[in-house]
Amino acid sequence: MPHYHKLGKLPSKRHIVFRKPDGELYSEQVVSTEGFSDIYSITYHLYLPTKVLKIDEPFSVAPEIVYDKNMQNRSFKGFEIEPEEDYLKSRKPVLVNDDVCITLAAPSKSMTDYFFKNSSADEMIFIHKGEGVLHTMYGKLPFSYGDHIVIPRGTVYQLEFKTAENRLFILESYSPMRFPRRYMNGEGQLLEHSPFYERDVRKPEELETFDKQGDFLILIKRNEVIYPYHYASHPFDVAGWDGHLYPYALSIHDFEPLTGRIHQPPPVHQTFEGRGYVTCAFVPRLYDYHPQAIPAPYNHSNVDSDEVLYYVDGDFMSRNNIQKGQITLHPIGIPHGPHPGAIERSIGKKETKELAVMVDTFKPLKVTAFGAGIEVKDYYKSWL
Ligand SMILES: [Fe+2]
Repeated sequence: MPHYHKLGKLPSKRHIVFRKPDGELYSEQVVSTEGFSDIYSITYHLYLPTKVLKIDEPFSVAPEIVYDKNMQNRSFKGFEIEPEEDYLKSRKPVLVNDDVCITLAAPSKSMTDYFFKNSSADEMIFIHKGEGVLHTMYGKLPFSYGDHIVIPRGTVYQLEFKTAENRLFILESYSPMRFPRRYMNGEGQLLEHSPFYERDVRKPEELETFDKQGDFLILIKRNEVIYPYHYASHPFDVAGWDGHLYPYALSIHDFEPLTGRIHQPPPVHQTFEGRGYVTCAFVPRLYDYHPQAIPAPYNHSNVDSDEVLYYVDGDFMSRNNIQKGQITLHPIGIPHGPHPGAIERSIGKKETKELAVMVDTFKPLKVTAFGAGIEVKDYYKSWL
């Protein structure tokens, strides 16, 4: 979790009189997590953030589950997800459980006529292709290829794309998404052994204050239902804010890999964690330097987790016939490992250019109809 940040105008203390140039009071809003027991931010709005004009009929976006109980190694071709102009329509959940939802999206247009708020989940949007700006009441956060954008639950946002071809790998986390505890000291600072540092964490930098009243549609998602709320003022009407809760970006290209004489286990690649899952980043790095090291991973059984790998770029040394945007799902207890020939092929190699994002979940993942629709046939036999 990032540190204290502030933008715009603030009064000298919390919860005191703070007036606009016209003499009216600013509307103070505290956005807090875990009740009032964890990180929060204090925002000052031009208008009341509570003025709801109307709520349209809610509608479900719950994905159809095809494999409720999965016990088979599977793979999915992520780039076969069809692009859609609309951002929300473009989001296709492929793997879900009670802790996370893994979604692929290929939106081709910026969000212009509505805003989105996920009230159930923190979102990590990994930018596989595309460039643009995340707009929130906390300011502008530019993004490009390789960024993990972390958006805390309850944040109203709009995505502006500067590119027509955008490929997003989205992880919804139904618990707060954090940096690994072991990376941080007691004060929350990233330690020397952490593969990234506060300097690598990009915060909103340019506050946009929209002094606009009218009818502003915010599509609010909670428990797989969208509630179309119409508000009387622009959601980004904040003149100033401070605190620890805001969206931020961490580029996979700023992740400094930890390497060793022999094969290093996945925890050295960790980026984030939450209830029931961890995420990792596999980045270009020098291979193990013991003279007889085998750089390819060993066969392994995850006896406590389902393992999801999302292949981003480079050549994937341990896999045969893997394409960019492809996902592999290796469920709890079923051994998996390098494809035939990959271990021998890796011996003597000095470096890898692979780039991949991993999500390990401690509860089984269910496969949706979107996932089944892009599944690679008989992947589970691919070691024959
Ligand atoms: Fe694995």
